[in-house]
Amino acid sequence: MFALVSRTTLFLCLFTSINLLLYISFLNHPHSYLRFTCPNLETGSGPPPHASPTNISHLFFGIGGSAKTWEKRRALSSLWWDVESTRGFFWLDEEPLNKKKTINSGDTKAEISLPYRVSSPVWTWFTHSHLRPGVRMARIILDSYNLKLPDVRWFVMGDDDTVFFTHNLVSVLARYDHREMWYVGVNSESVEQSVKHGYGTSFGGGGFALSYPLAEKLVKVLDGCLDRYQNFYGSDERICACITEIGVPLTKEPGFHQFDIRGDAYGLLAAHPMAPLVSLHHVEVLAPMFPNKTRIHSLKSLIEPYRLDPHRILQQSVCYDSKRKWSISVAWGYTIQIYPWPVTAAELNIPLQTFKTWKTKSNGPFTFNTRLMPADPCERPVMYFLDQVEEVGSIGTRTSYKLDTSGKTCNNSADYDLVMAVKSIRVTSMKMAPDHWHKAPHRQCCEIMDKGGKKSRNMLIRIRKCRQWETTAI
Ligand SMILES: *[C@@H]1O[C@H](CO)[C@@H](O)[C@H](O)[C@H]1NC(C)=O
Ligand SMILES: *[C@@H]1O[C@H](CO)[C@@H](O)[C@H](O)[C@H]1NC(C)=O
Ligand SMILES: *[C@@H]1O[C@H](CO)[C@@H](O)[C@H](O)[C@H]1NC(C)=O
Repeated sequence: MFALVSRTTLFLCLFTSINLLLYISFLNHPHSYLRFTCPNLETGSGPPPHASPTNISHLFFGIGGSAKTWEKRRALSSLWWDVESTRGFFWLDEEPLNKKKTINSGDTKAEISLPYRVSSPVWTWFTHSHLRPGVRMARIILDSYNLKLPDVRWFVMGDDDTVFFTHNLVSVLARYDHREMWYVGVNSESVEQSVKHGYGTSFGGGGFALSYPLAEKLVKVLDGCLDRYQNFYGSDERICACITEIGVPLTKEPGFHQFDIRGDAYGLLAAHPMAPLVSLHHVEVLAPMFPNKTRIHSLKSLIEPYRLDPHRILQQSVCYDSKRKWSISVAWGYTIQIYPWPVTAAELNIPLQTFKTWKTKSNGPFTFNTRLMPADPCERPVMYFLDQVEEVGSIGTRTSYKLDTSGKTCNNSADYDLVMAVKSIRVTSMKMAPDHWHKAPHRQCCEIMDKGGKKSRNMLIRIRKCRQWETTAI
């Protein structure tokens, strides 16, 4: 039926074109710009040809949770879930116990109003009981799709311990044509995990996004497919297997973070890939991101600068103080490192290994390069952490970073003493344009703005676009 319609349309189109051609030659106007477009051969379904830019309303979140973890994790989820604009549900295995009592006096409005649903019970029919939770998680895409909500371009899957940076997620997804089939996400940081569960699998905790047409096709085959992959470990691996049967590969976006690492994510956050930060996972397992702060407080601290300049959060800039012979690496909105010796940009670009692998807690390998974090504090950089954030006008920001004295510090080196005398660093920058990440990625430059007298307590850095011939060289 569809083929017939298409052929008829094609024929009509051809016929009209020939007539038009004859008409044009007859008029003998070879340069007339007569615009003629064939009717879209696949009209009748799908969004209009010139779709509006993707925004947060076009995303539907299907977050995997459970009645057991619901109460504990709501605080984490409410950090990023905006009840006004975020669409979606937390899918639980059953009604949370004592629904009324779960609201404590200290809960924020967001925590109270996070929307949840109970997964449809089909998952309980699968034969192997120990594998049912994975089946339920995988079927969240089906439960979400079946709500048949209007204007959904992307289904975004995540766990209840995933923190999304929705503004950046929107800007990442807006780069893809949501009318085509896309599977966007990331795999594990630990090679052992990627080897076991697949380099082509988007790990569920880091989150992933399926465009509407892919979701539509996936839900049609899902239950049969899940049955074929009963022996698979996680829901993410099963989803990947089913998408592979459809024939769509994973498109990797390095701003998603599964965070299959143990210990402190510091090194990774301080040398983030040149891509917008989209998600963080396992934040309850990893060390708090800031010294002297709880995990939740740390996340709140990171979200503050993110709200001011979302595209810039964690973006790295490298500059040198040629007089004092210092190398400086800024991860905007989070941390600054000063090395009292020359370190190349190529080296500073590699994360310090402040973490171990997920499963075996070993020193690697990871799916990216790492640098050793020296045990001797005199071989480590001096670190600063975000302290204050302010907006300058409506287009700029000023962030300040405070010297960290919480760990062991190097106390027998004159070079270090000079750095440690700097108690706080202020950084000014312009907010990144809304289309910043739609262009080819390009690291911004930084420059030291003060003269840096002996034992100066403050330092001023400006982050700006690099000049035409400027490179970051010592
Ligand atoms: C998102 O775009 C749609 C048009 O496609 C518009 O109707 C809607 O108001 C926008 N939502 C937001 C939050 O900007
Ligand atoms: C963290 O706490 C310790 C001891 O409580 C204190 O000495 C240190 O200055 C604090 N660090 C920061 C960065 O506030
Ligand atoms: C210097 O640091 C070492 C360990 O990092 C410590 O044992 C020593 O007491 C410190 N000395 C001073 C003067 O603070």
